[in-house]
Amino acid sequence: MTNSKIVLTGDRPTGPLHLGHYLGSLKTRLELQDKYKVYILIADIQALTDNFDNPKKVSDNVLEVLLDYLSIGLDPQKTTFVLQSAVPEIAELTVFFMNLVTLGQLEQNPTVKTEIEQKRFKGGIPLGFLAYPVSQAADIAIFKANLVPVGEDQLPMIEQTREIVRRFNRYYGNILVEPEAMLSKFPRLPGTDGKDKMSKSLGNVINLSDDAKTLEKKVRGMYTDPARVHATTPGNVEGNPVFTYLDAFDPDPKIVEELKTRYRKGAVTDAEVKERLIKTLNDFLDPIRSRRAEYIDNREALIEILRSGTERARKITATTISEVKAALSLKNF
Ligand code: TRP
Repeated sequence: MTNSKIVLTGDRPTGPLHLGHYLGSLKTRLELQDKYKVYILIADIQALTDNFDNPKKVSDNVLEVLLDYLSIGLDPQKTTFVLQSAVPEIAELTVFFMNLVTLGQLEQNPTVKTEIEQKRFKGGIPLGFLAYPVSQAADIAIFKANLVPVGEDQLPMIEQTREIVRRFNRYYGNILVEPEAMLSKFPRLPGTDGKDKMSKSLGNVINLSDDAKTLEKKVRGMYTDPARVHATTPGNVEGNPVFTYLDAFDPDPKIVEELKTRYRKGAVTDAEVKERLIKTLNDFLDPIRSRRAEYIDNREALIEILRSGTERARKITATTISEVKAALSLKNF
């Protein structure tokens, strides 16, 4: 029974994926691909809702994001990669869903609210942006997904999806599946600047694609304990991102504990702790870098993975949409 679960999740292709994405969702996907049928949507249409003035940025990042997925070990034999814009059934279902959501509900979505504040759209809020949770509900429902592994900020989208699906099923018959959100069990990673969240727009990220030199530079520049002026000053480990990263990635907790003890006593330099982190992250990233190297000059292979994944996905989306149209008493010619 468990094996029949369908997992769907997605990303907007707007830039490279980073360590925050890894802990927040990619690592969970790696575990899930061995157990369930996993679909990962490269949500280029959703990315256009706030990049309508720069479509090239979106299209340029489609294969980059796929490369990130493959480099961490998501396996096209197990996981199906799907390009959103190549699945017109999602757009169709979005239109049907529009009738089942009110403007008020959309305006109340806390994630969309925050994004609107951050983005400061000139000349008003695009309808497409305000309504992207509806299209995201269609992304999920068209696959009849049971499980949606996402970060916390996406919970309102899943809740909205559940409401839409319930309304749909109530009006038209029990056709669609109410999905459940699945939160990462790994901790949230702060930015290299100590800010709460690693985020491209804050410029405080370590990308999965960073080479050793870039990584070293970023780690050496990392925020530590600002009150600690000398190596002999007792330092704070809690809330210190260097230690948060070590906790998350260092395979040897004993060494990390030992460094923490010395840090608290003022018996280790920041440089030594950062040296350990550089090694830890390079050890983590090295296999990712070599998998990336296998694909990076093989655009054809990347395109083929995405093309064949999308083709497989469309067998499902076409079936769902004809069930939906029948339920809506629309003619299926
Ligand atoms: N909104 C998600 C994000 O910004 C991306 C996304 C698009 C998604 N479609 C999805 C996530 C479907 C889960 C399910 O990260």
